[in-house]
Amino acid sequence: MRIDVIAALPDIVRGPIQHSIVGRAQEKGAVAIEVHDLRDYAEGKHRQIDDYPFGGGAGMVLKPEPIFACLDAVADAHGDPDEVIFLTPDGQPFDQPMANELSMVDHLVLLAGHYKGVDQRVRDERVTREVSIGDYVLSGGELPALVLIDAVARLQPGVLGDTSSALTDSFQDGLLDAPVYTRPAEYRGLTVPAVLRSGNHAAIAEWRDTHRIEKTRRRRPDLLTD
Ligand code: ADE
Repeated sequence: MRIDVIAALPDIVRGPIQHSIVGRAQEKGAVAIEVHDLRDYAEGKHRQIDDYPFGGGAGMVLKPEPIFACLDAVADAHGDPDEVIFLTPDGQPFDQPMANELSMVDHLVLLAGHYKGVDQRVRDERVTREVSIGDYVLSGGELPALVLIDAVARLQPGVLGDTSSALTDSFQDGLLDAPVYTRPAEYRGLTVPAVLRSGNHAAIAEWRDTHRIEKTRRRRPDLLTD
């Protein structure tokens, strides 16, 4: 899988993708990520990427030309992407089913805006999907792009050590995860539930199911209703 990130502040994205699972996914060749600096595609002495909004109002708007130019350069180098995703608080809410769906796509472009937003013509002409990571406003799309990359990269075949691990995550079947414990079996008088140490796999599976349903009912009853 290939992911091109187009960002107003590319260094925010470049650091985190070198670490942990996303870093390992790249080392293993499961995902290739390239981060493009929007300013490299801007014209003029000042390489300006944003400008004042027509009609007035607060905040700057990302200009269309550098974004169109960068998208064209990505397409020339690597072919037309399957999706161009714009990260924005007014997009479709990101969730596990969307992560699963996007993980099966060969080539994604993530457009991370900053400032007030991007010129609507980019959204109308080039963006195939608009995605929000939650009902709050961040200063830019760079952190949301990282969230999407992490959720998608860890689903690539061979990336997680234990292949069943991604499938047992919270949300993967619409339920939250059961509590987990590790050694020591007793710490400061706090013990691990005996069933988890019993070696009885059927009993362990039943304990986990019970706790997943109970936790979901308590914390996220909305997940059980639909
Ligand atoms: N850009 C700013 N806030 C965002 C959010 N919540 N989701 C996606 N992109 C954003």
